[in-house]
Amino acid sequence: MTYEEYEQEAKRRLTEKRFVHSQCVAACGAALAEKYGADPEKARLAGILHDIMKDTGEEEQLKIMEQFGIMLSQAQRHNPKLWHALSGAAYVEYVLGVGDREVVEAIACHTGGKSGMGLLDKVLFVADYISADRDYPGVERMRELAKSSLEEAMVEGIAFTVAEKTGERQTLDPQSICAYNEALWALEDGPA
Ligand SMILES: [Fe+2]
Ligand SMILES: [Fe+2]
Repeated sequence: MTYEEYEQEAKRRLTEKRFVHSQCVAACGAALAEKYGADPEKARLAGILHDIMKDTGEEEQLKIMEQFGIMLSQAQRHNPKLWHALSGAAYVEYVLGVGDREVVEAIACHTGGKSGMGLLDKVLFVADYISADRDYPGVERMRELAKSSLEEAMVEGIAFTVAEKTGERQTLDPQSICAYNEALWALEDGPA
């Protein structure tokens, strides 16, 4: 499929607002990829498809994950907000036929993060926080941080999300904490 065809698939499955968000993440991801040395075309594709399951019901998402043998961790099972990333990655790989592992992996970890995130994973993760359609308090600071370091932006973003979740006594995904620690370690150790 061409990029335009993938974009049509996203449009077909998403509300107008979410489709616009996906277009913004695609554009932002491509720009971040350009800046940090990832592949802009992969980032664009991951961006347009990353939320493809987000407007699909939980039952159907569970069915897709079951169908393609996706095992959920305990934390993932208890947090349906993480499901669209996992069911989306399976859908993109097995139904839409995206063969690129990096793109599929980046979609799978775009919400929670994970231990051992690669460059494209980080690009999509940060693009999802700072895309042009975002307007939460603190987004300008995130955008500033993303200009100098993906890891700085990740640390800020995860800290923000964790504070929000613990404030509401929601559970945390341990994978997010791994991503947070590893981003901080990378900052301490400096550029590889
Ligand atoms: Fe998402
Ligand atoms: Fe998103």
